[in-house]
Amino acid sequence: MKKLQAIELPFGKNQTLHKTPKIILLVILTLLLFTIIPLYCRSLAFPSTLESSSSTHDSADKKCDVFSGEWVPNSEAPYYTNTTCWAIHEHQNCMKYGRPNTEFMKWRWKPYGCELPIFNASQFLELLRGKSMAFVGDSVGRNQMQSLICLLSRVEYPIDVSYTPDEQFKRWNYTTYNFTLATFWTPHLVNSNQADPIGPTHNGLFNLYLDEFDQQWTTQIDQFDYLIISSGHWFFRPLIFYENRRVVGCYDCRQPNLTDLTNYYGYRKAFRTAFKAINGLKNYKGVTFLRTFAPSHFENGTWDKGGNCVRQRPFRNSEIALEGDHLELYKAQVEEFRVAEREGRKRGLKFRLLDTTQAMLLRPDGHPSRFGHWPHENVTLYNDCVHWCLPGPIDAWNDFLLEMLKMEDERLNEERPSSSDGRLRVR
Ligand SMILES: *[C@@H]1O[C@H](CO)[C@@H](O)[C@H](O)[C@H]1NC(C)=O
Ligand SMILES: *[C@@H]1O[C@H](CO)[C@@H](O)[C@H](O)[C@H]1NC(C)=O
Ligand SMILES: *[C@@H]1O[C@H](CO)[C@@H](O)[C@H](O)[C@H]1NC(C)=O
Ligand SMILES: *[C@@H]1O[C@H](CO)[C@@H](O)[C@H](O)[C@H]1NC(C)=O
Ligand SMILES: *[C@@H]1O[C@H](CO)[C@@H](O)[C@H](O)[C@H]1NC(C)=O
Ligand SMILES: *[C@@H]1O[C@H](CO)[C@@H](O)[C@H](O)[C@H]1NC(C)=O
Ligand SMILES: *[C@@H]1O[C@H](CO)[C@@H](O)[C@H](O)[C@H]1NC(C)=O
Repeated sequence: MKKLQAIELPFGKNQTLHKTPKIILLVILTLLLFTIIPLYCRSLAFPSTLESSSSTHDSADKKCDVFSGEWVPNSEAPYYTNTTCWAIHEHQNCMKYGRPNTEFMKWRWKPYGCELPIFNASQFLELLRGKSMAFVGDSVGRNQMQSLICLLSRVEYPIDVSYTPDEQFKRWNYTTYNFTLATFWTPHLVNSNQADPIGPTHNGLFNLYLDEFDQQWTTQIDQFDYLIISSGHWFFRPLIFYENRRVVGCYDCRQPNLTDLTNYYGYRKAFRTAFKAINGLKNYKGVTFLRTFAPSHFENGTWDKGGNCVRQRPFRNSEIALEGDHLELYKAQVEEFRVAEREGRKRGLKFRLLDTTQAMLLRPDGHPSRFGHWPHENVTLYNDCVHWCLPGPIDAWNDFLLEMLKMEDERLNEERPSSSDGRLRVR
C-alpha cells in the first residue's frame, strides 16, 4: 500500500504528464526503478536506518533484522540443564516439577536472511571484561539474567557481591573478567506502592506515581556500562495513577469516581519517566537496551480464571498476530523509546531496542504452565504463562544480546581510527 502511494504521488500531482515526451518519461521511470524505489524499500525494511543508524535492529550494512524470523528445530539444545546450572529460579525449573516433554527446549531463532549465532560464553565475557551490566525491571527481567548466568556457566560462575540481603537487588562478580552483573527490582519502573493487598480483583491494588522516579534504581545505575530495562505484567493488576501527586485515573480499579485510563496509559508514562531519569543522570555513559514486552499466553480464560498454556509447539508468524493490550503496550514503549533515543543522542547516550516481542509471541509452549511448583502447592499464579522455563526460549534473548554487544564493539572499532584518544574513552 505505502509503496504504491509513494510511486503514484509524483504522477498524481502532475496533471500534464500526458504532454511529457516519452523519452523524459522513460528517464523518470528508470530513475524511479533504480534509485528511488530501492531506497524507499530499504527504508521500509529498516525503518530507522535513515533516521538514525543507532536505533536499527541490526546494523544497516548487514541488511538483516535479527528480530524478524521464525523458530526452527535445533537438535543441539539445550546448552545447560538444572543439574549443570544452579541459577534457575524454582518457579522456572520446569523439569524439576515434572514437565513431561522437552521439545520446547529444542528450537532456535532463525532470522530471515541471516543467522543468529548460538550464545558463546567466552566471547560474551571477553566483550564485557572490566564492564558492568544491570537488569532493571521485574521477575521476567530476572528470568533473563538467570538464563544469562546459566549460559555463561560453561566458562565461569560469578560470586555474590550483593551488599543487601534483599534478593531483589543482587550483584555478582565474574572475578576472572572483573565483570559485574546486577539486578534492580522495579516492577512499575516508577515510584509505586501497594494501596491494598487484595483490591478489586483479589490481586492487589497499586499506587503508581507516574511522574516520580523510583529512586531505588535511578540513584544506583550511573556507573553501569549497560542497562537492560523492561517491564510488563505488573501493569495487568489494578492500578491507581497519580501525576503531580494527584489521582488522574486508574486501571481496572472498579471505582465509580475514577476513570479507567487503560494500562497502556500508565505504561507509556512509566517508560517516559524512567527514560527521563536515565537521560538526566550526569555521570551515566552507558548503553540502554529496552527489552520489549514479552506476551503471556493464557488461553481459555485469564490467569485467575483457569486460563492455561498447554500448547507444545511454537506458532508460525502466519498463525498469530500481536493484538489488544499487548499491542498497545508494545507500541507505547517503543514510541517512548524513540523519544528517549533522540533526547539521549544530544548528550551522546545510546539507546538500543532488544525487540523480543515477536519472537516470544510465537512461543506459547515455553512457559512453566503448572510445572512451576508442586501440584499441591497453593501459589497465586498456578498456571504460569508469563515467565519462561529454563532452559527454554528466553535463552534466545541472550543470543540477541550478544549480537547487539558485538555490534557495539564493531561500531567502536569503526569510530576508533577517526577519533582522538580523548573521545574514545568517553563511552
Ligand atoms: C532436575 O530435573 C530433574 C528432572 O529432569 C529432577 O528430577 C531433579 O530434581 C531436578 N534437579 C534440580 C536440582 O532441580
Ligand atoms: C567463542 O568465542 C571465542 C572467543 O571469541 C572463540 O575463540 C571461539 O572459537 C568461539 N567458539 C565458537 C564455538 O564459536
Ligand atoms: C574492575 O572494573 C571496574 C569497573 O567496572 C574498575 O573500576 C576496576 O578498576 C577494575 N578492577 C580491576 C582489578 O581491573
Ligand atoms: C571482581 O573481582 C576481581 C577479582 O577478585 C576484583 O579485582 C574486582 O575488583 C571485583 N570487582 C568488583 C566490581 O567488585
Ligand atoms: C473514590 O471513592 C473511594 C470510595 O469508593 C474513595 O476511597 C476514594 O478516596 C475516592 N477517590 C477519589 C479520588 O475521590
Ligand atoms: C480450551 O478448551 C477447550 C475445551 O475445553 C479444549 O478443547 C482446548 O484444548 C483448550 N485449548 C487450550 C489452548 O487450552
Ligand atoms: C491459598 O492461599 C490463600 C491465601 O494464602 C488462601 O486464602 C486460600 O484459602 C488458599 N487455598 C487453598 C486451596 O489452600
